[in-house]
Amino acid sequence: MDICTTKAAIRARVRDWRAAGRRVVLVPTMGYLHAGHMALVARAREDAGPEGRVIASIFVNPTQFGPTEDLATYPRDPARDTGMLEAAGVDAVFIPEVSEVYAPGAQTIVETTELAGILIGKLRPGHFRGVATVVTKLFNIVQPDTACFGEKDYQQLAVIRTMARDLDMPVRVIGVPTVREPDGLAMSSRNVRLTPEDRAAAPVLNAALTEAEALARDGVTASRLRSHVRARLEAEPRADVQSVDIRDAETLAALSGPLTRPAVLLLAVRFGAVLLIDNRVVGPESKEETP
Ligand code: PAJ
Repeated sequence: MDICTTKAAIRARVRDWRAAGRRVVLVPTMGYLHAGHMALVARAREDAGPEGRVIASIFVNPTQFGPTEDLATYPRDPARDTGMLEAAGVDAVFIPEVSEVYAPGAQTIVETTELAGILIGKLRPGHFRGVATVVTKLFNIVQPDTACFGEKDYQQLAVIRTMARDLDMPVRVIGVPTVREPDGLAMSSRNVRLTPEDRAAAPVLNAALTEAEALARDGVTASRLRSHVRARLEAEPRADVQSVDIRDAETLAALSGPLTRPAVLLLAVRFGAVLLIDNRVVGPESKEETP
């Protein structure tokens, strides 16, 4: 496995692979890898096929963190990460310093003007601008055929699909289902920062979503579903509920009334200093019900 710390090095790798007619698949991450990231890598490996090449990037992107957020304390372990990637059959890792990615005087941004301002975008102003800009840069540096992203970050996936479509980026975006701990908590690099008490309480997000799935099958309205989930979360004293939303699963447009199309429930809940998010697609054509 090649470890590339510069744009020139990763570009040279990709140039050789492309010249040999190989597909290139990218998995962008911020590192501190867990089984959720590795599911993306496995999907990438599958998409690349035996002849294709898989690149993972590890870059804690400063532009997607707000001034009061956890950039400085974001967990990092590049030696462990590169070991895991090598064992999973990744062909190259792109692991640049901040100065390699952002030149002084950089002033160009990419923003999905509507999607960036709703939901998590309200809780984290500027976050999705940072994500869209860095993912654009990674797409331009690596020029992959395909890139894999987790459904765990549902709004992020929507932002990336939208920007790729709007800006004619020749990259196929694949969404990969959320990987969970045995007790249902969605895996996240931030879970290690939960106190033992908060960790014990955190599966309430998944529990609330699972109840909502059953209610949606029984045909309740969007607002009824939303208030049920909010009440279920608020019954957990350690949970500081930031937002509970139900949106069109494809466009993320607000919903009310009976569910006639697939909808997505999106949760953001703080436990101490840690913001946890989770989501579930529900409704008449929810994926869980599709054979
Ligand atoms: P990061 O949080 O490291 O996540 C990298 C990728 O792993 C994202 O596509 C995310 O959705 C996916 N992922 C995280 N937890 C997952 C889980 N439990 N199951 C399935 N997939 C999961 O998301 C980012 O980094 C950054 O915003 C990035 C896209 C790299 C841009 O900086």
